[in-house]
Amino acid sequence: MIPPHEKLVAHLVQAGDLPRHWRTAFEQVERHRFLPDRFTDPDGATVDRARDEDRWFTLAYDDIPVITQLDDGAEDGPGYPTSSASQPSIVADMLRRLDVFPGMRVLEVGTGTGYNAALLAHLLGDEEVTSIEVDAELAELARVRLMSAGFTPLVVTGDGTQGWPARAPFDRVISTAAVQRVPYHWVAQIRPGGKILTPWGSAFHNGVLADLRVGSDGTACGRFDGDVAFMWVRHQRVPRRVVETYVHPERQGFESTRTELHPYEPIGDFDASFAIGLRMPGVLNRLEFAEGEEQRFTVYLVDPDTGSWASWHIAPERQGSGYEVRQHGPRQLFVELEAAYRWWRRQGRPEHTRFGLTVSAEHQLIWLDNETSPVASTP
Ligand SMILES: C[S@@+](CC[C@H](N)C(=O)[O-])C[C@H]1O[C@@H](n2cnc3c(N)ncnc32)[C@H](O)[C@@H]1O
Repeated sequence: MIPPHEKLVAHLVQAGDLPRHWRTAFEQVERHRFLPDRFTDPDGATVDRARDEDRWFTLAYDDIPVITQLDDGAEDGPGYPTSSASQPSIVADMLRRLDVFPGMRVLEVGTGTGYNAALLAHLLGDEEVTSIEVDAELAELARVRLMSAGFTPLVVTGDGTQGWPARAPFDRVISTAAVQRVPYHWVAQIRPGGKILTPWGSAFHNGVLADLRVGSDGTACGRFDGDVAFMWVRHQRVPRRVVETYVHPERQGFESTRTELHPYEPIGDFDASFAIGLRMPGVLNRLEFAEGEEQRFTVYLVDPDTGSWASWHIAPERQGSGYEVRQHGPRQLFVELEAAYRWWRRQGRPEHTRFGLTVSAEHQLIWLDNETSPVASTP
């Protein structure tokens, strides 16, 4: 039987995720060394090394993300994942896209377990790698695990959206936590010609990768690509439990209309949903199935800033007469969603890769094809 680590590397090579110059790092850095004795698998089950070492070890080398912290480390929280060792094929794909080579200096945002920092340190040398983690306990664990695996990159505790000016300028910034706004500090701390690679999303759609080049004019510019859903950086998290918090039709009142549009079209389509998220900043969508039924569900649109919401009730037997939509609050969120979806279709249903962004000291400008077709701008 092929040992799990070798099997994982072979899988990454076969999938085309692992460029030649990264192969040795992936062969030599052992992922299991960076994992805690208890972690959560993607189905939410706890895996305990003391109870089932074989399963723990096998999962460490499966191509899956491993959740290593819940609720920022708080005991008895609701169980939200707050740190993980990312899925190996995504780690490899991001390192490939980072286009990084020996002689370059890198800032990683989101040290997590330290696994990615170890891979970077293997390729570039400890001196050239700085990794920043907001959670002090995780940062310390990562330092210890890195050291026991033979690596000593600089791991600092802090808010990675501020960068780490003491080690600037960098050639590359790679974030392993998602942002809605690319921090200008990253741009300012990179050499002209350098690169930022970060998971990016909106409250509506998480997300894609933003792959940006820093120009000599002090801006960073590039396109979106990929299909990734990372945890948000701590200070840009989207609100949780929005349906429970904001949607109370019985006491709030609502307007009711009907629609022929099925959510499968605007929300089920990756590119449509991505584009709608650009047009409806701050608005979240949530899907709740009726108990035990796959065909009967409600899609909620919620804007926490104004308390506006819309609910879209999908029941298979109603298909002929349209689906009921309820809207409450100053924003008519369903009307806005229809308008955003129409806009996307009018543009020729562009894929997410036709969108891009420019980050300057003043704003983050999102565009379609080029900067002369702006789509949205945030300070
Ligand atoms: C997906 S995990 C990172 C995976 C990691 N690179 C690895 O190899 O294991 C995301 C990490 O980002 C951290 N994080 C969130 N917000 C941050 C911030 N503002 N600055 C630095 N780290 C942050 C989280 O605590 C979490 O550990």
